[in-house]
Amino acid sequence: MKTDTHKTIYLKDYKPYPYSLKHIDLNFDIQDGFTTVKSKLSFHSGPKVKEPLFLNGEDLELKSISLNGKALSEAEYTRDEKGLSILKTPDGEFIVEIEVIIHPEKNTRLEGLYQSGGNYCTQCEAEGFRRITYYPDRPDVLATFTVRVEADKKYPVLLSNGNLTEKGEAKDGRHFAIWSDPFPKPCYLFAVVVGSLAEVHDTYITKSGRKVDLYIYVRHGDEGQCEWAMESLKRSMKWDEDVYGLEYDLNIFNIVAVSDFNMGAMENKSLNIFNTALVLAQQETATDDDFIRVEGVIAHEYFHNWSGNRVTCRDWFQLSLKEGLTVFRDQEFTADLHSRAVARIDDVTHLRRGQFPEDAGPLAHPIRPDNYIEINNFYTMTVYEKGAEVIRMLRTLLGPKLYRKATDLYFSRYDGQAVTCEDFVKCMEEASGQDLSHFRLWYEQAGTPEITFEGKYDEKKRNYTISLSQIVPSTPGQASKKPMLIPVSVGLVGDNGDDVDLGNGETTKIFHLDQAKQEFTIENVASKPVPSILRNFSAPVKLKTAVSNDELAFLMVHDSDGFNRWESGQEFALRTLNGGDDAAFISSYGEILNQALLPSTDKAFLARALSLPDVSYIGQGHTEVDPPAIYNVRENLLKKIHTKYAGVLQDAYNKNRTARDFSLTAQAMGQRVLQNVLLRLLTAQKDETAAKIAKAQYDAANNMTDRVAALGALAQTDSELRDQAFVEFYHRFKNYQLVVDKWFALQASAVRHDTIESLRALRTHPEFTLKNPNRARSLYASFAINNPVIFHAVDGSGYNFLTDAVIELNTINPQIASRLLTPMREWKRYTQDRQKKMKESLQKILETPKLSPDVFEIASKSLKH
Ligand code: BES
Ligand code: ZN
Repeated sequence: MKTDTHKTIYLKDYKPYPYSLKHIDLNFDIQDGFTTVKSKLSFHSGPKVKEPLFLNGEDLELKSISLNGKALSEAEYTRDEKGLSILKTPDGEFIVEIEVIIHPEKNTRLEGLYQSGGNYCTQCEAEGFRRITYYPDRPDVLATFTVRVEADKKYPVLLSNGNLTEKGEAKDGRHFAIWSDPFPKPCYLFAVVVGSLAEVHDTYITKSGRKVDLYIYVRHGDEGQCEWAMESLKRSMKWDEDVYGLEYDLNIFNIVAVSDFNMGAMENKSLNIFNTALVLAQQETATDDDFIRVEGVIAHEYFHNWSGNRVTCRDWFQLSLKEGLTVFRDQEFTADLHSRAVARIDDVTHLRRGQFPEDAGPLAHPIRPDNYIEINNFYTMTVYEKGAEVIRMLRTLLGPKLYRKATDLYFSRYDGQAVTCEDFVKCMEEASGQDLSHFRLWYEQAGTPEITFEGKYDEKKRNYTISLSQIVPSTPGQASKKPMLIPVSVGLVGDNGDDVDLGNGETTKIFHLDQAKQEFTIENVASKPVPSILRNFSAPVKLKTAVSNDELAFLMVHDSDGFNRWESGQEFALRTLNGGDDAAFISSYGEILNQALLPSTDKAFLARALSLPDVSYIGQGHTEVDPPAIYNVRENLLKKIHTKYAGVLQDAYNKNRTARDFSLTAQAMGQRVLQNVLLRLLTAQKDETAAKIAKAQYDAANNMTDRVAALGALAQTDSELRDQAFVEFYHRFKNYQLVVDKWFALQASAVRHDTIESLRALRTHPEFTLKNPNRARSLYASFAINNPVIFHAVDGSGYNFLTDAVIELNTINPQIASRLLTPMREWKRYTQDRQKKMKESLQKILETPKLSPDVFEIASKSLKH
């Protein structure tokens, strides 16, 4: 292995691009089998620039290159597999023209220009544009784009960014379109789409009265599945006006759905490209979770128009500048439209499941990393989800008014520029007058801080003292850490269940923990309260609390903070699952369960309150994790709950059965999720009775939420009804790719004696292919992430199953290969026998010839630390 083939890039080496690029004219000539791309780049160089002009370019067939109209001789430029350098350029303005040939039909990486479902589309973030033409492929080079696309008329749709300025006939019965984007942008936001697609149209009137045409393009026949996405888009546009004062800036906004897509969706200027999984949604084929996700991702990509496009990143180390901020914005959008507490619970659950392990593992990195080998590997839960938590903490510290003042300043000051996280924090500082120098550590230090809380009530002084301490664990490359500035939100709950007034009618106070150990005293507390710490999860930390089980049981019912009401139950459950007193927990659980009999409770919340922590999260508290052992303890607790409350469960389930009329109101969705949590409890024994209950729900289902929940319960049984249902499901939905994905995923997450054999068989199913990322994920990611019991089988069969796929995908699609590999990173967390097997798998991967930088980086760093 040559080490220089995988070069590390460092933040400290950042240098601005020495040339300025004002405009690019791009020309696509799409032919069967190849595409010709011609570009005309208008550069400017100051008198001092002596460096060669470097243009990135990979896997391009160079046809011609000229400078100011004169072809360059081979002596005038150099070229290697990374790009091209023009050795001498004139001072002032000059023009470079380049012609290359590319092969989208052969592009299985799905970066650059590629084909999906017979159509052409692009994916340029982070570094895909260099696979389209030679260009300074870096986010700090902003230019205006004019794009001409020409193709056969069998592709009636020709799209690119900005406004359509011309379209017409071309020679040989072909046609063309010219698009012009007035906003300067980095090339990662460029997109082109050429194909035969159906369009759905609507309009939106902005707050200043401008009309915007909205289009969603999908495969013919899928038009009926776009209504929810379109409504979501309009809701997003309105929300950004109302909450951030940000208005859309063009008269057209396009969304195109493609079935082959590495990620969820992409915010290309005025031409968002989406994975079909995040656009199409209808009652029969999408679950409520899918609906909420579609809405959230549409919002996310739309919000990037300001947080990402109008104000973009200087370099990829600043990725959290746009992603952390935009995730925070989409989280708040979802919270505003649905239940705030439930949204927070779901976001924190997601953070704990994915980001906490990452932050404790060999690839831990700060939200602003300082080095990488492959940038695709740094679109991580840390950059995204922890990044969003950091923005949330800034808002908590500033308060909503000053936070808004700061974002106004940020968007106006940096409009049209490529900036850094530091620039963002400076705006927060300037607008609020607060000194945030200590807070900046969140951008530099990796690792999840661990906080310990103790509280003491002084009867004589009638005050309550909160003692907090923090430890930031060491992470690779960062052995010792400084204490962070952590906003800790605290409330005190009195005997009667009401919040104690902490002064001026406030019931929640934010304490700034900024030292290793600190005490805070609250005066005038009439009697001993129960402390509610880290309300609404005010910081992304692990909290150790001395609160007793009785106090947790009390908070489960009385805490006015919805998040902590849920959290107390989770903490109580965790203690129970880790060897605590079953009986006490089960009795508290019963009280919550009784609420499911009432018609007027928050059912979405109740569903979360009745769910036990999952196997992975329970494992986070263990040193040598044994997933099957954890699973068994958890299953036993569920069975005990079932045995004790069988009658109530049945009653509550009956009361919450889905009504005949389907609707997507919060209430209807809340009832479905509660019903389906109750179904899982009712079928806890996984016997024939359980199978019958689930099969009855399956047969009666008029929507995908109920159907999938029933099939998921059946999947865990050995009943014949299980096989019948899987066959029925497949035949009913075989024409819906996204539902077939669910069919694969459900089987991959089943905990059964023959799961591995059945997965090997599914691998050879005619509908299975590694080339489609959704399909690859439906089998492999569902397995490795959602099925810890079988994935971590001691014989290593789960690891081998995944390893073979990673090696195969390494050459097909390195980005997906590397993503699938990530569950192996945490190998050192498991029991010795498992560690050994996982290590062998990682070594086998590292020995693979022609290993991509993507996979190399994850495998080698995993083994090193
Ligand atoms: N900019 C990203 C898409 C992207 C990521 C492209 C990595 C290339 C490489 C987009 O805004 C995004 O973050 N999409 C997320 C969904 C979002 C709701 C968090 C995704 O695709 O998973
Ligand atoms: Zn994003």
